[in-house]
Amino acid sequence: MRAPPKKPNRKIAPDIAARLSHRFSLRMQPDGNIAASLGDYSVNLGQFSEAATDRARHLSTGLPLASFAGKSILAREIDALVHRLARQGLLEYRLSSTRDERDLVVIEPQVPDYWPRRAKLGKRDTVVLSRFAYLRRRGNEMVLESPRAGALFQIGDPAIAATLAALSQPRKIGEFKAKARSFDLLLLELLVESQVLLKLDTKGGDGLRVDEGDGNLVLWDFHDLVFHTRSTEGRQANPVGAAFTYASVVPPPPAVRPRWPGSKIDLRKFPSPGPNSLLPKLLRERHSTRDFDDKHPVTLRELAQFLDTTARVLSEWKSEPYFDGGPEVTYSTRPYPSAGSAYELELYLAVSNCEGLARGLYHYDAGSHALVAMSASAQQLQALSVAAQFAMDAPRQPQILITIAARFGRVSWKYSSIAYSLILKNVGSLIQTFYLAATDMGLGGCAIGTTDIDLFAKMTQQELHIEGPVGQFALGRGKKPEVQG
Ligand SMILES: Cc1cc2nc3c(=O)[nH]c(=O)nc-3n(C[C@H](O)[C@H](O)[C@H](O)COP(=O)(O)O)c2cc1C
Repeated sequence: MRAPPKKPNRKIAPDIAARLSHRFSLRMQPDGNIAASLGDYSVNLGQFSEAATDRARHLSTGLPLASFAGKSILAREIDALVHRLARQGLLEYRLSSTRDERDLVVIEPQVPDYWPRRAKLGKRDTVVLSRFAYLRRRGNEMVLESPRAGALFQIGDPAIAATLAALSQPRKIGEFKAKARSFDLLLLELLVESQVLLKLDTKGGDGLRVDEGDGNLVLWDFHDLVFHTRSTEGRQANPVGAAFTYASVVPPPPAVRPRWPGSKIDLRKFPSPGPNSLLPKLLRERHSTRDFDDKHPVTLRELAQFLDTTARVLSEWKSEPYFDGGPEVTYSTRPYPSAGSAYELELYLAVSNCEGLARGLYHYDAGSHALVAMSASAQQLQALSVAAQFAMDAPRQPQILITIAARFGRVSWKYSSIAYSLILKNVGSLIQTFYLAATDMGLGGCAIGTTDIDLFAKMTQQELHIEGPVGQFALGRGKKPEVQG
């Protein structure tokens, strides 16, 4: 299924102000250049007129979006500056009380292309909270989040939390009290646009869960979608990866678990398998390879053999319906184990350097053992490979980067509560299969722990809840260590 076309810009909210993220400050140079900086880190935002530079100073407290919505040269300059800051993830948006300037809501973008847009709501429209929305404490703040939203909302006024609680049931916009209406309406319109709230069809549907989205969304459990979007990159602004956030508070757990106090049966007296035993040898030789020999890249023939060994469909079969009136379900057999025989994992290959195969993105059609070329821009391919190179701290990009994507619904159609965890376990078994096959073929590979789910959705033009990345594996011919002369 294709992503829906981009919605046209709606009217800009008059009461929203853009504010520079509190960790950053703006540095105005005498030549008109403006940079946002945090310690030694600095982002140049371009050169601006004196009037624009003066106006930009208000970004530290909040610059109303309406103040630069016009067509004057100054407004256009400020608009360009603010959008540059937004794309760098350096802005938040405040909705404040007109009485005491208190922040009622602060919107923190989670994706670079977030911009506060309002859905159009009339008195007769009915809205309800998304089943994916949740309020939680973060530090001293209450935050409203949803794995479907491009921003999170800091809630600065308990009255707003009460309004949100009331929205656990569908409510007509006209029900909101007249005095609170203009602010509430603005917030509700922002929340509908962010998919924290949903606007219900007048016809009334098949129940709130089914009304919220397509069949693929219906199958997602709340905790699974939160887990997926919060344990990957692309849909959140939290630090990802080796950040050692609490290293000064908690010591590192040991590499090997301290022994339980029970009696010990020493196994070392039993012989280890002989040197010619294949599996133990393969397991001992397996290791991660991050540096690849670009003068002697992996060949298309080797890639075909690798995919044949690890991921090809070996046979297909059907099961009887699971329940009365239920559908027949099709199954396949493949070389690695998969929970419930679901085989929901798909392989997308970003090829940078493979002899006999053009650079580009390919889907592995495991049923017919073929590669199918897909259209992805050179920029997107570069972004994908560079992120993998960065994750491996490698000197160059991998020759082939395999993104393992899941057709989530294939597992969640059957399993409740455990669907996403089963998918991750399946990824683990496929990754070990990749490692062993690469070792056996004299190739090198490395698993990669983070993936940008937003980038993949853009590359494949599939919505991220339908099919998305759950793992990655870099493959190529490993560089031989240089012999010291
Ligand atoms: C799930 C998983 C994620 C991993 N992610 C990364 C990664 O992002 N970057 C990296 O350089 N290595 C990654 N690795 C490789 C491990 O660092 C490696 O397996 C470990 O250090 C043991 O070394 P060996 O594979 O050479 O035996 C990952 C391995 C696994 C299984």
